[in-house]
Amino acid sequence: EKGNYRHYMQKEIFEQPTVVAQTLSSYIRPLEQTVALPQMDFDLAGVKRITIVACGTSYYAGMVAKYWFETFARVPVDIDVASEFRYRDPVLEEGGLALFISQSGETADTLAALRHCKEHGQTIAVVVNVPTSSMAREADLLLPTHAGPEIGVASTKAFTCQLAVLAALAAHLALVKGKLSAEQEREIVRHLIEAPAALNAALAHDEDIAAMAHLIAPARDVLYLGRGPDYPLAMEGALKLKEISYIHAEGYASGEMKHGPIALIDEAVPVIVLAPSGPLFEKTVSNMQEVRARGGKVVLISDAEGIEEAGEGCLATIEMPSVHPLIAPLVYAVPVQLLAYHVACAKGTDVDQPRNLAKSVTVE
Ligand code: F6R
Repeated sequence: EKGNYRHYMQKEIFEQPTVVAQTLSSYIRPLEQTVALPQMDFDLAGVKRITIVACGTSYYAGMVAKYWFETFARVPVDIDVASEFRYRDPVLEEGGLALFISQSGETADTLAALRHCKEHGQTIAVVVNVPTSSMAREADLLLPTHAGPEIGVASTKAFTCQLAVLAALAAHLALVKGKLSAEQEREIVRHLIEAPAALNAALAHDEDIAAMAHLIAPARDVLYLGRGPDYPLAMEGALKLKEISYIHAEGYASGEMKHGPIALIDEAVPVIVLAPSGPLFEKTVSNMQEVRARGGKVVLISDAEGIEEAGEGCLATIEMPSVHPLIAPLVYAVPVQLLAYHVACAKGTDVDQPRNLAKSVTVE
């Protein structure tokens, strides 16, 4: 079943262009260049606030979506991990939309949070990969991802498919809220259609990333930095690395470095910086210089423009295609997945079945 791949995780990383295209095909009409969402029997335009709840990697997809819902649709978003959300007695106003994101659709804490929201009058939307799951059955609005079965314990293709659905939802919400013109909608759809090709371009760096795994494998700690939507990607990169290579890793908002974590920096701590060129680039670069000034070794993941501007003096650079900010989080997921994968292979850990982890966490 793994075909020519060594591991399911590797196979699933490489399936992303296909499964993201497959997922997007249910959410966009390519000829009309419009977003298409399933029928809803509630008024999406009337939604005043969105509460997002999920765990782990699915939670990071939700964090990216928060940026999109707020920037494009100007709808305020509250987001929490399910294990915190369900016990903190959250304020849920009548008529709110609660959005749950889950690969399995069975994660105990997320499911409990869903039921709590239902009891408190929220409309329930779910982004889920298993269409027969409990969460899928209990949803008012079911938004399936079409990633196919995900076998590797560390989630990869489910994550990028979740982002694809969430991007379409953000665009649709912006449209019904009157924040997007038909022309802007078409432009967004065109960018979404380009996502699979951009994912392929990112995957083309597999060998370069494999070749740099030995630089990271000896580390005891690794930091990942990003700003804006790349901040959740930094956390996702750190989660992947710790799960499968057992190297301690943390994702930080770049601007938080000087508020503490910079104390950890020395020659032994690689810092992975996720920074597509754009309005936030200069700020991240200055955080990167602070790291370098303290002997830190930087791996910069950026596009050609970003690497040209700031790549000199880095331990390594990984060049991503230049893409629209809406699809950048999908594309930047690939190098952090590949880096974790190759570092784990270099360390000889069990990539598909990491110790202490279960694919579906059905107990709290
Ligand atoms: C990370 C990972 C976990 C899951 C989390 C939620 O690689 O796989 O963090 O993302 O357990 O699972 P689902 O999405 O099934 O609710």
